[in-house]
Amino acid sequence: MELSADTGRRLAELVHRLCGLVLGPNKDYLIRHRLEPILVREGLSSYEQLLERLQGRNAPRLHDAIVEAITTKETGFFRDQALFLAIRRVVLPACIANLKSSGGKRHRIRIWSAACSTGQEPYSLAMIVRDLVDDPDSGMSETQFTILASDISSDAVETARAGRYLASEVRRGLSEDHLKRHCSRDGKAWMITEPVRRLVQFQRFDLMQPPTQLGAFDLILCRNVLIYFDEATRRRVCQGMHGTLYPGGWLALGAAESLFGITDRFETVRVGRTLLYRKPGEPV
Ligand SMILES: C[S@@+](CC[C@H](N)C(=O)[O-])C[C@H]1O[C@@H](n2cnc3c(N)ncnc32)[C@H](O)[C@@H]1O
Repeated sequence: MELSADTGRRLAELVHRLCGLVLGPNKDYLIRHRLEPILVREGLSSYEQLLERLQGRNAPRLHDAIVEAITTKETGFFRDQALFLAIRRVVLPACIANLKSSGGKRHRIRIWSAACSTGQEPYSLAMIVRDLVDDPDSGMSETQFTILASDISSDAVETARAGRYLASEVRRGLSEDHLKRHCSRDGKAWMITEPVRRLVQFQRFDLMQPPTQLGAFDLILCRNVLIYFDEATRRRVCQGMHGTLYPGGWLALGAAESLFGITDRFETVRVGRTLLYRKPGEPV
């Protein structure tokens, strides 16, 4: 379907307003490729008609459909193995030491997977936590951990909450050992088992909103989403996360993302092949 330069610009502005995504140089292709199914579904014959309908009472429903269609949900279990190794070997032990030295002021380690897509990232974290609490030498129990997993996409959050994955999805990153211990067969698919699922709470959350309502965290994973935002949005999101981390709390970004030129409020910590960010200050 034809997409004029002006209509393309207006749709790109709308997408930016709705979820912060910048469509970049190949925006016409992206708009056509991802939004055309909406036009077909709605019985519209042009992008101009879509813009018109966005003025009417269907706007909220269409906004949701646009966000669903335009966001990239690419993910996998233990995506970037080195990071999950660093979380297991360095980050969680540091969080546990903080909790234990808080003298009873704090009761839980709080982790946030801030753009969790279809759930593979928070379940990877939950599997690490499950392995840890199942080890009697850890001295930790599952009630001492909460993992919040959020995404702007309601569809992604629903899929994540269901915890059911195709064989092709579990093959992407899940070891035989994790598959055996933390998943059970469900026809041709696999279900994440209850002891892992109950460590994770899912909710829809738009990173354009300030995260203060979510409480404070020891570790935030905000991975492979900042790349889609412009610099001002990245700065705002990272400063919001800085505000919501406990002193001494950790931030993990995607392998292609960094805080360089965005904020200097974090210390960088190299763990093996992974770069992590830490909020300075004495842990509470
Ligand atoms: C490429 S996936 C990354 C998933 C996971 N963090 C990973 O690294 O595998 C990007 C996710 O960011 C979500 N997203 C995009 N804009 C968002 C926003 N404004 N607020 C919250 N999530 C957003 C998308 O819906 C998508 O699920």
